[in-house]
Amino acid sequence: MNDTTTPDHKRPRVTKSSVLDRALVLEMVRVTEAAAIAASKLIGRGDEKAADAAAVEAMRRAFDDLEIDGTVVIGEGERDEAPMLYIGEKVGGAPGRGPKIDIALDPLEGTTITAKAGPNSLAVLAAAEEGCLLNAPDTYMEKIAVGPGYAEGIIDLAKSPSENVCAVAAAKGVSPADIVVCVLDRPRHAALIAELRGLGCGIYLIPDGDVAGVIAVTDEDTTIDLYMGTGGAPEGVLAAAALRCVGGQFNGRLVFRNDDEKARARKWGIVDLDRIYKLDDLAKGDCIFAATGVTSGSLLEGVKRFRGGRMTTESVVMRASSGTVRWIKGEHRMD
Ligand code: FBP
Repeated sequence: MNDTTTPDHKRPRVTKSSVLDRALVLEMVRVTEAAAIAASKLIGRGDEKAADAAAVEAMRRAFDDLEIDGTVVIGEGERDEAPMLYIGEKVGGAPGRGPKIDIALDPLEGTTITAKAGPNSLAVLAAAEEGCLLNAPDTYMEKIAVGPGYAEGIIDLAKSPSENVCAVAAAKGVSPADIVVCVLDRPRHAALIAELRGLGCGIYLIPDGDVAGVIAVTDEDTTIDLYMGTGGAPEGVLAAAALRCVGGQFNGRLVFRNDDEKARARKWGIVDLDRIYKLDDLAKGDCIFAATGVTSGSLLEGVKRFRGGRMTTESVVMRASSGTVRWIKGEHRMD
C-alpha cells in the first residue's frame, strides 16, 4: 500500500470528524473492491445491465460488514426505480447504534465502458457525516474543474469556456493553446468543443466516466488542466468529494431536460434551480472517497483475473481531514 499526503496548501482545511473513524477509511475500500470484482466478470460481455446488477448486489452485501448506521443519499435511483442501494436505503451492519453516515455511491461508474471493455470504469463511493453530501437529483450537471494550486475562484461556471481557459492559461504562464481540457464525447458538447478548438486547446475526449475525468485534473501526469461539460449530477457530487480530499476546484450547475426533472429537484429541497454549486456545497466537512478500478484507466488499474482464481485490484482511498491518499493493491482468491 502506498500512502501520500496532499500538501496542506493544496487542499481545503477540514477538521476531523468524530463520526468518520479512521478504521472506516480502509473498510470503505473493501466495499468498492467487492463491487469491482463482481462487475469484472462482465467486462467486455456487452451486457451493461448485468454488469451493473452484479456490482450493486456485491456492494450492497459488503456494506453489511461495516459497523455503521449508513444512509444512501446518492444511489441507484429512487425506491420505486431501484431494488437495492436506492436513495434513502439504510446500509451497514449497525443500524441505530453505529455512526450515522451519509453515502453517495455508484457501484459501477461506466456501465457502457465495462460492457465494451473500454477505459476508466470504477466502483466508487463517498462517505460523510449526516447532511454533508448534496442530495443531488438524478439529472445532468454542467461541470468545470481544475486541479490544486490555483487561486480560489480561478474557474467560474458563470463565465464562458474561453474566459475560464484564458484564466488558467494566464495563471500557468502559458498560452490558451497549451491548455488541455477533458470533455465527454457527446453531441451536446459540439459548441463547447468548437470554442475550445478555436482557442487551439488540446481536447481529451472521453467516451464515458466523468468521475475519473474530473479527478484527472488533480494528477499532473495526465497533463489535463481542466474538465468541462455536462454529465450526471450524482457523478458530480462523487467527483467533488474526491477533490475535497486532494485539492482542486469544482463548479457545478444542475441541467434540467423537462419539468419532471425540475420537480424531482424541488422534492430534494433544491430551491434555486440555477445555483452554481462549489466544492463545499456538494461535499462539506470531513469526507472519505474510495474507488476501485473495474477496467484500467487514468486513475486506476482494472481488476485482473488470472488462472487458478487469483485476482488483483487497485484502489484509492482518500480522506479530506488528513489529506491522506492511499493507493491499495489487493490480491484476492476466487474461492
Ligand atoms: P453510467 O455508469 O451510468 O453509464 O454513467 C456513465 C457516464 O459517462 C457518467 O460518467 C457521466 O456522468 C454520464 O454517464 C453522462 O451521461 P450520458 O451518457 O447520458 O451523456
